[in-house]
Amino acid sequence: MNIQIINGPNLNLLGKRETSIYGSESFETFFESLKNQFSTMQLHYYQSNVEGELVNKLHEVGFSFDGIILNAGAYTHTSVALHDAIAGIKTPVVEVHISNVYSREEFRHKSLITSKCIGLITGFGLEGYTMALGYFKNLKK
Ligand code: DQA
Repeated sequence: MNIQIINGPNLNLLGKRETSIYGSESFETFFESLKNQFSTMQLHYYQSNVEGELVNKLHEVGFSFDGIILNAGAYTHTSVALHDAIAGIKTPVVEVHISNVYSREEFRHKSLITSKCIGLITGFGLEGYTMALGYFKNLKK
């Protein structure tokens, strides 16, 4: 089972960035523990700060992979292009946010991508990615 994790803008700074909100662990370290925990699945990780590159990655994996876990960062709240990319691919997408976007600024309450995703996990820290992987793993049972 091939699962692609995609992180959007500023998520390369995890562990250094606003640690009271996003925690002090880097995604690279966390990703190693995820691979150990889900060793029967093929996990792939991609991060970009560039909107079009996120669209390209969705197109690249979106017709062959079994699942996509997408934290689109701030593009969640602005990107019609990501909405359309998710709508156009076949692979199911789970939207993840580390923080609880609904307990933060009002501009984070609107997501342009949720309507095209299977579901949304928000506010559980990095554990949200683990939960999304658990969802895909159970699908295959
Ligand atoms: C985020 C929430 C977004 O509003 C923000 O722009 C991010 C991170 C999260 O994971 O909590 O960059 O997607």
